[in-house]
Amino acid sequence: MKNVLESIDQNKERYLDELKDYLRIPSISTLPESKQYIIKCSNFVADELKRIGMDKTEIFKTDNHPIVYGEKFTDAKKPTVLIYGHYDVQPVDPLELWSSDPFDPVVKDGKIYARGANDNKGQNFVHMKSVEAYLNTKGELPVNVKFLIEGEEEIGSISLAKFIKTHKELLKCDVVLISDTSIYAPNVPTINYGLRGLCYMEVEVIAANRDLHSGSFGGGVANPINELARIIAKLHDKNFKVTIPGFYDDVIKLSAKEKENYRKLNFSDSKFAKELKVKELQGEKGYSTLERLSARPTLDCNGIVGGFIQEGAKTVLPSKASTKISMRLVPNQNPDKIAKLFTKYIKEITPNTVKVNIKNLHGGLPFLVTLDNKYIQAAANAVSKAFGGKTMFTREGGSIPIVVDFANLLKAPVILMGLGLDTDDIHSPNEHFHLSNFYRGIKSSALLFDEIKNF
Ligand code: BES
Ligand code: MN
Repeated sequence: MKNVLESIDQNKERYLDELKDYLRIPSISTLPESKQYIIKCSNFVADELKRIGMDKTEIFKTDNHPIVYGEKFTDAKKPTVLIYGHYDVQPVDPLELWSSDPFDPVVKDGKIYARGANDNKGQNFVHMKSVEAYLNTKGELPVNVKFLIEGEEEIGSISLAKFIKTHKELLKCDVVLISDTSIYAPNVPTINYGLRGLCYMEVEVIAANRDLHSGSFGGGVANPINELARIIAKLHDKNFKVTIPGFYDDVIKLSAKEKENYRKLNFSDSKFAKELKVKELQGEKGYSTLERLSARPTLDCNGIVGGFIQEGAKTVLPSKASTKISMRLVPNQNPDKIAKLFTKYIKEITPNTVKVNIKNLHGGLPFLVTLDNKYIQAAANAVSKAFGGKTMFTREGGSIPIVVDFANLLKAPVILMGLGLDTDDIHSPNEHFHLSNFYRGIKSSALLFDEIKNF
């Protein structure tokens, strides 16, 4: 094991150069014009898997973006680890807020800046490098490894969900390993045990059949922006609880033990507020900030459009206004049920003076890891050794909807070995990844293989 860890230390520069090549490919999954880069990136991953020594690699075509698969079989008696990650990234807008080109990675103050540096290229590359270090040092792996790297995570993993259903035998494994989440705080070894689900809706409010002069018509006909704002304002009460009837019905309450665990994490509200440059925090009454960020459901507008937004003034009553609303869900809420409750309530509170169109854009189930199994303990030991100190167990506020399919269809425990930091600006300008976490991640991964080799 010592040799593997030494080899990781000796090859840091090369790993970084190779990660940069991966980050240079603008594989934005949501933009049709990026399709060529999605293809290029899937080839990059497949080539890399071949290069590091997988004895079988394959690029599976789908209705949308390709899925990359690679495996190295060692011994039927050894456990099989399925490593999941995604090579697609979020769009880069607003581009003017980036300090450097999002697809020309730059290292500054121990961090690598680029779109995908953390989410998720940096974090999945970690596992390719640990496998490579093992093979280069020992000539064989202590476990069987399967890589599954997809290109649609940021747009809902539609193709992968179908793929898992039809490739259960290929993906058969003893444990699923995922690094696409965060450590609790700098230098704190962390295993995540929860992900929130998601229900993503669009609401469009339409008043008159065309834009109107606000002098001639204002006061006589509804303004869709005013009405949309009123609808949005009704979605929370004064305690910041979501007002949709039935919204909280299926939420599992935090047990006293879990509340105590949250308390022990010693989250600092003032530090959090200071880092975000807000005077005060805001959220559902009766819950701590950390609980609100990961164990309670939320409702938020993600964007809003309507009317005249260019420079200067134009007097107009717009005909339409719309917003996109996400609801982060927790066990046992169901996105389809929540979408129905949402739709019913919006219709109820919309006045007869406007029409409303409601669309369900996508959703995902929330997830809780079963903590009492040997793989989780092994992962906790591995990150503890690589980072130093006691491993913390935290729930994530973000979502990785495909994880539920892994758990249900492959019936394997899932390890969420997060390596990012919540301050790494994923989905934002200047996304970055701490190189210290990149290298400690590679060691964590190698140490995990070592911990489980005799299971
Ligand atoms: N890596 C994130 C999930 C995540 C977010 C983990 C924040 C930890 C903290 C993942 O790539 C992601 O962005 N997921 C989407 C899912 C959605 C598109 C269905 C999300 O959470 O918005
Ligand atoms: Mn993401």
